[in-house]
Amino acid sequence: MLRTVTLFTAILFWSTAEAATVMITGASRGIGLEFTKRYAEQGWDVIATARSPEDDEKLQALAADNSNIRIETLDVTDHTGVDALADKLSGTAIDVLINNAGISGGRNTQEFGNIDFSVFNDVMNINVLGPLKVTEAFLEHVGASDQKKIINISSSEGRLSLVRGARQPFYRASKSALNMVMKNVSIHPLVQEQGIIIGILTPGFVDTDFTAGLPKQMMIDVETSVSRSMAMIEKYDLEMSGKYFANTGEEMTW
Ligand SMILES: NC(=O)c1ccc[n+]([C@@H]2O[C@H](COP(=O)([O-])OP(=O)(O)OC[C@H]3O[C@@H](n4cnc5c(N)ncnc54)[C@H](OP(=O)(O)O)[C@@H]3O)[C@@H](O)[C@H]2O)c1
Repeated sequence: MLRTVTLFTAILFWSTAEAATVMITGASRGIGLEFTKRYAEQGWDVIATARSPEDDEKLQALAADNSNIRIETLDVTDHTGVDALADKLSGTAIDVLINNAGISGGRNTQEFGNIDFSVFNDVMNINVLGPLKVTEAFLEHVGASDQKKIINISSSEGRLSLVRGARQPFYRASKSALNMVMKNVSIHPLVQEQGIIIGILTPGFVDTDFTAGLPKQMMIDVETSVSRSMAMIEKYDLEMSGKYFANTGEEMTW
């Protein structure tokens, strides 16, 4: 009898347990689109954000096939828009927020000796201020969740301790700055008091539009990258908060 009651309670709990929620920036293509697909397959509620989702056919098709994907418009440089989405989603607990949207700013534009200085602001606005603003605006949503994780997709290109070859100074500086900004956020009382975990994660050298034109021999495919990142996101705990990890598991020097 006791076994039957326990089994019944377990089934009832299982059937009423809410799915975890993930919100992803830059979900239109590349790593963000793959995160969207994979979390949806795993039964998560996915808030897939993109700056012009009406043009994003792959994301639209994915959402049409998966009722647990909700698409929202979000340009991470539009701070008013970020606040408006945070208001719209008020009361929605977000277990994992993935700050994924990012740009390189191009290669020729950042070539020393012939630098287009106007590119710097775009790169910093999207790669540094964007994640910081999204993190600030959605802190309450993450704080209200069970998992409380904010994961920032950084890059090994942001490592000051391992700079090889002179290239893309704006992009590299933006990822070093992202690391510093998020390290700082991770030790802020607003974050620590709520037990929020701040992840800083590198995805590897991944075959996406981002790396178009670069030699493919050393690249991994987007499925492999996202599988590794999802495994790391699952592992992230408070002990790892504010630390810099490769998605293969190694802690990185800054
Ligand atoms: N691929 C790699 O090897 C690699 C390595 C290290 C780190 N990363 C990092 O991984 C992240 C994703 O890269 P990826 O390879 O997937 O690049 P990607 O294929 O070029 O995708 C970039 C994504 O960012 C979005 N985005 C750009 N500006 C935005 C803005 N202002 N607001 C919202 N979304 C914006 C793009 O949206 P649109 O479609 O609207 O342009 C797109 O969804 C980036 O942060 C990148 O720095 C990538």
